[in-house]
Amino acid sequence: MKRLGYSATIYHVKQAEKIKDLLMKGKNEVETGEWNRLVKDAYNSLEFLVTMHYLRQYLPESGRILDAGGGPGRYALELCRAGYDVVLMDIDPAYTAFAEEKIELEPKSVSSRLIASVVGDIRDLSDFNTNDFDAVLCLGGPLTHISDEPERTQAISELVRVAKPGAIVCIAVVGYLAMLRTVLSRFSYELITPAYSELIQEGKGNNLVGDSLWHFFRASELQQLAESCGLITLEMVGCEGLSTGLPEATNTVAEDPAKWKRWVELVLETASEPAIADMAAHILYIGQAR
Ligand SMILES: C[S@@+](CC[C@H](N)C(=O)[O-])C[C@H]1O[C@@H](n2cnc3c(N)ncnc32)[C@H](O)[C@@H]1O
Repeated sequence: MKRLGYSATIYHVKQAEKIKDLLMKGKNEVETGEWNRLVKDAYNSLEFLVTMHYLRQYLPESGRILDAGGGPGRYALELCRAGYDVVLMDIDPAYTAFAEEKIELEPKSVSSRLIASVVGDIRDLSDFNTNDFDAVLCLGGPLTHISDEPERTQAISELVRVAKPGAIVCIAVVGYLAMLRTVLSRFSYELITPAYSELIQEGKGNNLVGDSLWHFFRASELQQLAESCGLITLEMVGCEGLSTGLPEATNTVAEDPAKWKRWVELVLETASEPAIADMAAHILYIGQAR
Protein backbone atom coordinates (compact mmCIF):
# COMPACT_ATOMS: atom_id res chain seq x y z
CA MET A 1 0.00 0.00 0.00
CA LYS A 2 1.31 3.43 -0.90
CA ARG A 3 1.49 5.83 2.03
CA LEU A 4 0.74 9.45 1.35
CA GLY A 5 1.69 10.69 4.80
CA TYR A 6 -1.83 11.29 6.06
CA SER A 7 -1.64 11.52 9.82
CA ALA A 8 -4.20 11.01 12.56
CA THR A 9 -6.61 13.90 12.92
CA ILE A 10 -7.81 14.99 16.31
CA TYR A 11 -10.73 17.37 16.52
CA HIS A 12 -12.43 18.33 19.73
CA VAL A 13 -9.98 16.03 21.45
CA LYS A 14 -12.14 15.04 24.41
CA GLN A 15 -15.12 14.09 22.24
CA ALA A 16 -13.00 12.19 19.74
CA GLU A 17 -11.17 10.33 22.49
CA LYS A 18 -14.46 9.45 24.13
CA ILE A 19 -15.86 8.01 20.89
CA LYS A 20 -12.57 6.25 20.21
CA ASP A 21 -12.64 4.62 23.65
CA LEU A 22 -16.18 3.49 23.03
CA LEU A 23 -15.48 2.13 19.56
CA MET A 24 -11.99 0.67 19.97
CA LYS A 25 -12.14 -3.05 19.15
CA GLY A 26 -9.94 -6.11 19.28
CA LYS A 27 -9.21 -7.92 16.00
CA ASN A 28 -11.56 -10.84 16.72
CA GLU A 29 -14.30 -8.48 17.70
CA VAL A 30 -13.87 -6.63 14.39
CA GLU A 31 -13.97 -9.92 12.43
CA THR A 32 -17.14 -11.19 14.09
CA GLY A 33 -18.71 -7.76 14.56
CA GLU A 34 -18.37 -4.89 12.10
CA TRP A 35 -16.59 -6.87 9.34
CA ASN A 36 -19.36 -9.45 9.45
CA ARG A 37 -22.20 -6.94 9.84
CA LEU A 38 -23.09 -6.54 6.17
CA VAL A 39 -22.93 -10.24 5.29
CA LYS A 40 -24.13 -12.03 8.41
CA ASP A 41 -27.57 -12.80 7.00
CA ALA A 42 -29.84 -11.91 4.11
CA TYR A 43 -31.51 -9.06 6.00
CA ASN A 44 -28.23 -7.32 6.79
CA SER A 45 -26.86 -7.99 3.31
CA LEU A 46 -29.61 -5.77 1.87
CA GLU A 47 -27.84 -2.64 3.19
CA PHE A 48 -24.69 -3.59 1.27
CA LEU A 49 -26.49 -4.82 -1.81
CA VAL A 50 -28.74 -1.76 -2.17
CA THR A 51 -25.91 0.68 -1.39
CA MET A 52 -23.62 -0.98 -3.98
CA HIS A 53 -26.46 -0.90 -6.52
CA TYR A 54 -26.71 2.88 -6.13
CA LEU A 55 -22.93 3.39 -6.01
CA ARG A 56 -22.63 1.55 -9.34
CA GLN A 57 -25.30 3.86 -10.72
CA TYR A 58 -23.80 7.15 -9.53
CA LEU A 59 -20.01 6.76 -9.18
CA PRO A 60 -17.80 7.86 -12.05
CA GLU A 61 -16.17 5.01 -14.03
CA SER A 62 -12.86 5.53 -12.26
CA GLY A 63 -11.18 7.90 -9.84
CA ARG A 64 -10.17 8.55 -6.30
CA ILE A 65 -12.70 7.83 -3.55
CA LEU A 66 -12.65 8.80 0.13
CA ASP A 67 -14.43 6.17 2.28
CA ALA A 68 -14.89 8.24 5.45
CA GLY A 69 -15.95 6.30 8.54
CA GLY A 70 -15.16 3.29 6.38
CA GLY A 71 -14.81 0.89 9.33
CA PRO A 72 -13.04 -2.38 8.56
CA GLY A 73 -13.38 -1.78 4.84
CA ARG A 74 -16.23 -3.78 3.27
CA TYR A 75 -16.98 -0.98 0.82
CA ALA A 76 -13.32 0.01 0.41
CA LEU A 77 -12.47 -3.56 -0.60
CA GLU A 78 -15.35 -3.75 -3.07
CA LEU A 79 -14.35 -0.41 -4.60
CA CYS A 80 -10.69 -1.45 -4.88
CA ARG A 81 -11.90 -4.60 -6.68
CA ALA A 82 -13.93 -2.39 -9.01
CA GLY A 83 -10.77 -0.47 -9.96
CA TYR A 84 -11.15 2.72 -7.88
CA ASP A 85 -8.29 4.28 -5.91
CA VAL A 86 -9.52 4.35 -2.34
CA VAL A 87 -8.53 6.24 0.79
CA LEU A 88 -10.19 4.67 3.83
CA MET A 89 -10.49 6.76 6.98
CA ASP A 90 -12.01 5.86 10.34
CA ILE A 91 -11.84 7.14 13.90
CA ASP A 92 -11.04 3.65 15.22
CA PRO A 93 -7.46 2.49 14.55
CA ALA A 94 -8.54 -1.14 15.04
CA TYR A 95 -10.73 -0.76 11.93
CA THR A 96 -8.16 0.98 9.75
CA ALA A 97 -5.51 -1.63 10.65
CA PHE A 98 -7.99 -4.46 9.98
CA ALA A 99 -8.95 -3.00 6.58
CA GLU A 100 -5.32 -2.64 5.60
CA GLU A 101 -4.62 -6.28 6.50
CA LYS A 102 -7.70 -7.63 4.71
CA ILE A 103 -7.07 -5.69 1.52
CA GLU A 104 -3.40 -6.65 1.48
CA LEU A 105 -4.52 -10.31 1.16
CA GLU A 106 -6.03 -9.48 -2.25
CA PRO A 107 -4.13 -9.78 -5.55
CA LYS A 108 -1.71 -6.89 -6.14
CA SER A 109 -4.03 -5.42 -8.81
CA VAL A 110 -6.64 -4.92 -6.06
CA SER A 111 -4.50 -4.22 -2.97
CA SER A 112 -2.51 -1.51 -4.77
CA ARG A 113 -5.78 0.41 -5.16
CA LEU A 114 -5.88 1.14 -1.42
CA ILE A 115 -3.95 4.41 -1.42
CA ALA A 116 -4.08 4.84 2.34
CA SER A 117 -5.93 3.61 5.43
CA VAL A 118 -5.85 6.39 8.01
CA VAL A 119 -7.18 7.24 11.44
CA GLY A 120 -9.22 10.42 11.48
CA ASP A 121 -12.44 12.16 12.36
CA ILE A 122 -15.04 13.19 9.80
CA ARG A 123 -15.44 16.49 11.68
CA ASP A 124 -11.95 17.55 10.65
CA LEU A 125 -10.62 16.38 7.30
CA SER A 126 -7.80 18.94 7.30
CA ASP A 127 -5.34 16.22 6.31
CA PHE A 128 -7.07 16.24 2.93
CA ASN A 129 -6.99 18.95 0.31
CA THR A 130 -10.06 20.86 -0.82
CA ASN A 131 -11.50 19.46 -4.11
CA ASP A 132 -9.44 16.29 -3.66
CA PHE A 133 -11.76 13.34 -4.41
CA ASP A 134 -13.89 12.18 -7.35
CA ALA A 135 -16.39 10.76 -4.84
CA VAL A 136 -16.81 10.89 -1.06
CA LEU A 137 -18.61 8.20 0.93
CA CYS A 138 -19.73 8.14 4.53
CA LEU A 139 -21.69 4.89 4.74
CA GLY A 140 -23.28 2.76 7.44
CA GLY A 141 -24.03 5.68 9.78
CA PRO A 142 -20.86 7.42 11.08
CA LEU A 143 -22.84 10.69 11.31
CA THR A 144 -25.31 8.94 13.61
CA HIS A 145 -22.50 8.79 16.20
CA ILE A 146 -22.20 12.59 16.30
CA SER A 147 -24.74 13.78 18.82
CA ASP A 148 -24.07 17.51 18.47
CA GLU A 149 -25.91 19.23 15.58
CA PRO A 150 -23.22 21.85 14.75
CA GLU A 151 -20.67 19.03 14.63
CA ARG A 152 -22.85 17.08 12.19
CA THR A 153 -22.97 20.18 9.99
CA GLN A 154 -19.21 20.52 10.34
CA ALA A 155 -18.74 16.87 9.32
CA ILE A 156 -20.90 17.15 6.18
CA SER A 157 -19.21 20.45 5.26
CA GLU A 158 -15.87 18.68 5.48
CA LEU A 159 -17.08 15.77 3.32
CA VAL A 160 -18.25 18.33 0.75
CA ARG A 161 -15.06 20.41 0.96
CA VAL A 162 -12.80 17.50 0.01
CA ALA A 163 -15.06 16.49 -2.92
CA LYS A 164 -14.22 17.89 -6.36
CA PRO A 165 -16.89 20.12 -7.93
CA GLY A 166 -19.48 17.79 -9.47
CA ALA A 167 -18.33 14.82 -7.36
CA ILE A 168 -20.85 12.41 -5.84
CA VAL A 169 -21.17 12.51 -2.04
CA CYS A 170 -23.04 9.58 -0.44
CA ILE A 171 -24.01 9.75 3.22
CA ALA A 172 -25.89 7.00 5.07
CA VAL A 173 -27.40 7.47 8.52
CA VAL A 174 -29.55 5.41 10.89
CA GLY A 175 -33.25 6.28 10.64
CA TYR A 176 -35.33 7.66 13.52
CA LEU A 177 -38.58 5.94 12.48
CA ALA A 178 -36.86 2.56 12.17
CA MET A 179 -35.34 3.11 15.62
CA LEU A 180 -38.85 3.69 17.04
CA ARG A 181 -40.01 0.41 15.47
CA THR A 182 -37.04 -1.34 17.10
CA VAL A 183 -38.09 0.19 20.42
CA LEU A 184 -41.60 -1.19 19.83
CA SER A 185 -40.40 -4.70 19.05
CA ARG A 186 -37.46 -5.05 21.47
CA PHE A 187 -37.15 -2.22 24.01
CA SER A 188 -40.72 -1.08 24.71
CA TYR A 189 -39.80 -0.12 28.31
CA GLU A 190 -37.99 2.87 26.77
CA LEU A 191 -41.37 4.34 25.73
CA ILE A 192 -42.18 5.15 29.38
CA THR A 193 -38.71 5.52 30.92
CA PRO A 194 -37.96 9.25 31.49
CA ALA A 195 -34.24 8.80 30.70
CA TYR A 196 -35.23 7.81 27.15
CA SER A 197 -37.72 10.60 26.52
CA GLU A 198 -35.34 12.63 24.27
CA LEU A 199 -34.47 9.48 22.34
CA ILE A 200 -38.12 8.66 21.71
CA GLN A 201 -39.21 12.24 21.02
CA GLU A 202 -36.23 13.58 19.06
CA GLY A 203 -33.87 10.71 18.26
CA LYS A 204 -31.19 11.94 20.67
CA GLY A 205 -29.43 9.03 22.38
CA ASN A 206 -26.52 10.47 24.32
CA ASN A 207 -24.87 7.64 26.24
CA LEU A 208 -28.10 5.71 26.38
CA VAL A 209 -28.15 3.43 23.37
CA GLY A 210 -25.53 0.70 23.64
CA ASP A 211 -23.41 3.08 25.72
CA SER A 212 -22.63 5.12 22.63
CA LEU A 213 -23.51 8.54 21.23
CA TRP A 214 -26.35 8.48 18.76
CA HIS A 215 -28.48 10.78 16.68
CA PHE A 216 -31.23 9.15 14.64
CA PHE A 217 -32.36 10.96 11.49
CA ARG A 218 -35.50 11.71 9.56
CA ALA A 219 -34.90 11.68 5.79
CA SER A 220 -35.98 15.34 5.45
CA GLU A 221 -33.51 16.37 8.16
CA LEU A 222 -30.63 14.65 6.37
CA GLN A 223 -31.62 16.24 3.08
CA GLN A 224 -31.86 19.75 4.60
CA LEU A 225 -28.54 19.34 6.36
CA ALA A 226 -26.80 18.09 3.21
CA GLU A 227 -28.28 20.89 1.09
CA SER A 228 -27.33 23.51 3.71
CA CYS A 229 -23.74 22.27 3.30
CA GLY A 230 -23.89 22.90 -0.44
CA LEU A 231 -24.93 19.55 -1.89
CA ILE A 232 -27.44 19.11 -4.68
CA THR A 233 -29.78 16.23 -3.83
CA LEU A 234 -29.89 13.50 -6.47
CA GLU A 235 -31.69 10.69 -4.67
CA MET A 236 -32.55 9.31 -1.24
CA VAL A 237 -32.80 5.61 -0.62
CA GLY A 238 -33.91 3.22 2.11
CA CYS A 239 -31.12 0.63 2.23
CA GLU A 240 -33.14 -2.18 3.81
CA GLY A 241 -36.17 -0.87 1.91
CA LEU A 242 -39.40 -2.81 2.31
CA SER A 243 -37.58 -5.29 4.57
CA THR A 244 -36.87 -2.72 7.29
CA GLY A 245 -37.83 -4.15 10.68
CA LEU A 246 -38.61 -7.58 9.20
CA PRO A 247 -35.36 -9.56 9.60
CA GLU A 248 -36.98 -12.96 10.25
CA ALA A 249 -39.37 -12.79 7.28
CA THR A 250 -36.57 -11.52 5.05
CA ASN A 251 -34.18 -14.30 6.09
CA THR A 252 -36.89 -16.93 5.57
CA VAL A 253 -37.64 -15.68 2.04
CA ALA A 254 -33.91 -15.74 1.27
CA GLU A 255 -33.86 -19.52 1.82
CA ASP A 256 -35.64 -19.87 -1.55
CA PRO A 257 -33.40 -18.38 -4.29
CA ALA A 258 -36.30 -17.63 -6.67
CA LYS A 259 -38.30 -15.81 -3.97
CA TRP A 260 -35.18 -13.95 -2.80
CA LYS A 261 -34.36 -12.79 -6.34
CA ARG A 262 -37.91 -11.42 -6.76
CA TRP A 263 -37.88 -9.80 -3.31
CA VAL A 264 -34.55 -8.05 -3.97
CA GLU A 265 -35.98 -6.75 -7.26
CA LEU A 266 -38.97 -5.34 -5.35
CA VAL A 267 -36.73 -3.81 -2.67
CA LEU A 268 -34.64 -2.10 -5.38
CA GLU A 269 -37.71 -0.94 -7.33
CA THR A 270 -39.16 0.79 -4.27
CA ALA A 271 -36.03 1.84 -2.34
CA SER A 272 -36.15 5.49 -3.38
CA GLU A 273 -39.84 6.07 -2.63
CA PRO A 274 -39.88 8.85 0.01
CA ALA A 275 -41.83 6.81 2.59
CA ILE A 276 -39.48 3.85 2.22
CA ALA A 277 -36.37 6.03 2.58
CA ASP A 278 -37.78 7.72 5.68
CA MET A 279 -38.71 4.40 7.34
CA ALA A 280 -35.46 2.61 6.58
CA ALA A 281 -32.94 1.44 9.16
CA HIS A 282 -30.23 3.06 6.99
CA ILE A 283 -31.14 6.12 4.94
CA LEU A 284 -28.74 6.75 2.04
CA TYR A 285 -28.42 10.31 0.74
CA ILE A 286 -26.85 10.73 -2.68
CA GLY A 287 -25.79 14.26 -3.53
CA GLN A 288 -23.51 16.18 -5.83
CA ALA A 289 -20.97 18.81 -4.88
CA ARG A 290 -21.36 22.15 -6.71
C1 LIG B 1 -21.58 1.07 11.41
S1 LIG B 1 -19.92 1.46 11.06
C2 LIG B 1 -19.93 1.64 9.28
C3 LIG B 1 -18.63 1.23 8.64
C4 LIG B 1 -18.66 1.24 7.11
N1 LIG B 1 -18.77 2.58 6.59
C5 LIG B 1 -19.78 0.37 6.61
O1 LIG B 1 -20.78 0.92 6.14
O2 LIG B 1 -19.66 -0.85 6.70
C6 LIG B 1 -19.76 3.15 11.59
C7 LIG B 1 -18.32 3.60 11.51
O3 LIG B 1 -18.21 4.99 11.80
C8 LIG B 1 -16.99 5.19 12.47
N2 LIG B 1 -17.06 6.51 13.12
C9 LIG B 1 -17.87 6.92 14.13
N3 LIG B 1 -17.68 8.21 14.40
C10 LIG B 1 -16.73 8.65 13.53
C11 LIG B 1 -16.09 9.91 13.31
N4 LIG B 1 -16.42 10.99 14.04
N5 LIG B 1 -15.16 9.99 12.35
C12 LIG B 1 -14.82 8.91 11.61
N6 LIG B 1 -15.39 7.69 11.77
C13 LIG B 1 -16.33 7.57 12.72
C14 LIG B 1 -16.91 4.01 13.43
O4 LIG B 1 -15.62 3.79 13.92
C15 LIG B 1 -17.40 2.90 12.50
O5 LIG B 1 -16.37 2.30 11.79
